[in-house]
Amino acid sequence: MVLGVGGGIAAYKVCELLRRLTESGHRVRVVPTASALRFVGEPTWAALSGQPVETGVWDQVHEVPHVRIGQSADLVVVAPATADLMAKAAAGIADDLLTNTLLTARCPVVFAPAMHTEMWEHPATQDNVATLRSRGAIVLDPAVGRLTGVDTGRGRLPEPAELFEAARLVLRRGATEPDLSGRRVVISAGGTREAIDPVRFIGNHSSGRQGYALARTAAARGADVTLVAANVSLPDPAGVRLVRVSSAVELAEAMETEREAADIVVMTSAVADFRPVTSAASKIKKSGAAPAPIELVENPDILAGLVTTREREGDDQTIVGFAAETDDVIANGRAKLARKGCDLLVVNQVGGGRAFGTEDNQATVLAADGAVVDIPTGPKEDLADRVWDLVVERLPERSS
Ligand SMILES: Cc1cc2nc3c(=O)[nH]c(=O)nc-3n(C[C@H](O)[C@H](O)[C@H](O)COP(=O)(O)O)c2cc1C
Repeated sequence: MVLGVGGGIAAYKVCELLRRLTESGHRVRVVPTASALRFVGEPTWAALSGQPVETGVWDQVHEVPHVRIGQSADLVVVAPATADLMAKAAAGIADDLLTNTLLTARCPVVFAPAMHTEMWEHPATQDNVATLRSRGAIVLDPAVGRLTGVDTGRGRLPEPAELFEAARLVLRRGATEPDLSGRRVVISAGGTREAIDPVRFIGNHSSGRQGYALARTAAARGADVTLVAANVSLPDPAGVRLVRVSSAVELAEAMETEREAADIVVMTSAVADFRPVTSAASKIKKSGAAPAPIELVENPDILAGLVTTREREGDDQTIVGFAAETDDVIANGRAKLARKGCDLLVVNQVGGGRAFGTEDNQATVLAADGAVVDIPTGPKEDLADRVWDLVVERLPERSS
């Protein structure tokens, strides 16, 4: 692997990424820019990687490093990718070892930009990002949060653990093209909470892991991902835009908003079918008398609503639902697919320790075109990748 490091303040976080990569067995050649060495020195990169570290093309010339390093890489990760580096990469400038490496690499390339919000939002940077993506590079959207000084906004480098996950997921796909590149994906994850009073709610056991696995794998396949998370306490995936909600009504509103620009919508969240008619303004106390019953009202059917909106708007969006069933899994799944009108329904059996909060999952995917695909028990990201395969096979041709 090549780890290209740009001259941004977040270079210090990349030491931890390097550590994770080497500890998981990867041979990593760090190629910093001269500016990067102003932030973190050569000895740190050399000691952590166990490899020589150069910034220019004039060292070890007999080994032709300006060509060899890129040619022999299985993956190039650039973190932090500065505005300057992405501009050079988009323009094909090759004035140091890293920019030469970017021109000679034929493996997947992941850019993890980090910069102030103004730099990120500048049309020049956005054009360069679009150019790099159009050429097959994976450019992870920066996270929102604390920037160099006291300011906050979009432009933060994702956490090293999540960058490591992104690199791992891209690497495991090998030289496969990022087949979701240019596709806008909206995924809902987690479980809704329906307030009874300010401290209590009706909820469910959904951890959000399957939805987060779908988000991470979609980003690794080049998609532009928005994740609508209902009460999830997992780390924010790298390169994914997060929208946080709590109740079913909030989730419905967020999905209707986010679906507008989406090519693919995936509903993995566990939505409460019912909510209390009223939520008490103050905490309900014991009074000695029998507790008052909680009157419930039905929540909106979000998946069916998304299908209705698609039909009304005449979109060619692909819509995927998830169904958790405890009994008659396939029969209930088929009935649900027909009722909801989505393109794919991923049906999994829950209860008895299956699915909720676990690392592994298993499912049967039922397609509106009649296909039935069994996905055997395995990591949730394997299931996610199989679902994306089935989605990609059914995507309409791009109009441009
Ligand atoms: C304290 C400090 C922090 C900086 N942080 C960033 C940053 O996070 N992102 C960025 O694009 N540029 C940042 N810059 C500007 C870059 O260092 C500058 O554009 C430099 O030319 C980048 O060189 P490189 O792309 O060759 O690494 C920072 C500069 C300074 C002095």
